[in-house]
Amino acid sequence: MFKFPIDRKRLKLSSKFTIILGLIFLCGSVLSYGVLSHLQSQSAQRMVTEQSVTLINTLNALRDEYADNIRPLLKEELDTTPEFTPETVPSYVVRQVFESFREQEAFKDYLYKDAAPNPTNPRDQADEFETALVSTFEQNPDLVELHGFRELNDQSLYYVAHPLKLTNPNCLICHSTPDVAPKNLIKTYGPERGFFWELGDIIATQIIYVPAQQVLWEAQRNTLVTILIFMVIFGITLLILNRLLRQLVLEPIRPMARVATQLSQPDLVSSSELVQAQDLVSLDRISGSGDELGQLARIFQRMARVIASREQDLLVQLQNSINQVEPSATRGGLSLDAVKRLILRSQN
Ligand code: HEC
Repeated sequence: MFKFPIDRKRLKLSSKFTIILGLIFLCGSVLSYGVLSHLQSQSAQRMVTEQSVTLINTLNALRDEYADNIRPLLKEELDTTPEFTPETVPSYVVRQVFESFREQEAFKDYLYKDAAPNPTNPRDQADEFETALVSTFEQNPDLVELHGFRELNDQSLYYVAHPLKLTNPNCLICHSTPDVAPKNLIKTYGPERGFFWELGDIIATQIIYVPAQQVLWEAQRNTLVTILIFMVIFGITLLILNRLLRQLVLEPIRPMARVATQLSQPDLVSSSELVQAQDLVSLDRISGSGDELGQLARIFQRMARVIASREQDLLVQLQNSINQVEPSATRGGLSLDAVKRLILRSQN
């Protein structure tokens, strides 16, 4: 059976107090750490998700604006040039905007991908994981976002994925069938990929990747700071409590314990000397207090005085009796001390 390594009976009150509070604090800290780090991790994920959602929505607004209003202005010229200019593609513009967004320190590790099962550019080919996300979005038309963690190229990533639904008829100029698409597009990208998209299709998932470490570290740091503050507050509280325990309880109890020890001794001498004793002076100080210990000290004082005066009476009576029995004692006028010695001798 488990045996506590410290003998509990030998522990002082303040040590017991410290150990019990310390154990409560330790359990509390472990529990708080678990709960806090979970909450912080959730909140860090929420923050990254919200940022990503805002970013994706901005990019989509930009894609539509470009396809609806800017590209038509240049259409004639763009479609007739022999070489396809990627700058005319809404998705290209979106990618460029995202790249300039990444120049900000906070977003430098963010990655953006239009992961499509049937992409125009093979670079955008959805992998197995991303294809599964697209299927989930297809099966759940009301689902607007998925997020979580995944491993990619030995790196742990946090992802936020959005469905990309084809709603803008202007997109079909290049993504319906190869015979409708600009000739220079076919020349550059070929007729095999990125076609036969239909309005209402989930054509891709827009996905933002952030290194998991970045998200988790944020949460970890917040948790650690909170726990640290908690520990400092607890440490100070424990110190103050220990000091208060000593000042308000242990120090007042000590003289009372000594007085009680002396009163309990069979030796009558000690109790009669008690009234002047140093401990009774300390008791005077404590008995001034209105709390329970003050009350106890007053009872002790009263008890000590009663015992002392009874003892005094007893000694006087004894002296009288001795004087009657032993006339020499009367002549010599025995001192109180001598009587005490006589009594002690008779006790032994
Ligand atoms: C001028 C022709 C053209 C128009 C209009 C156009 N796209 Fe594209 N789209 C392309 C080309 C070309 C690519 C490949 C670009 C690249 O190399 O990154 C592409 C790429 C994409 C991609 C990335 C996946 C992939 O296929 O590589 C998505 C998603 C996409 N387009 C959606 C749209 C949507 C939505 C619209 C309408 C708002 C739209 N496109 C309008 C030509 C066009």
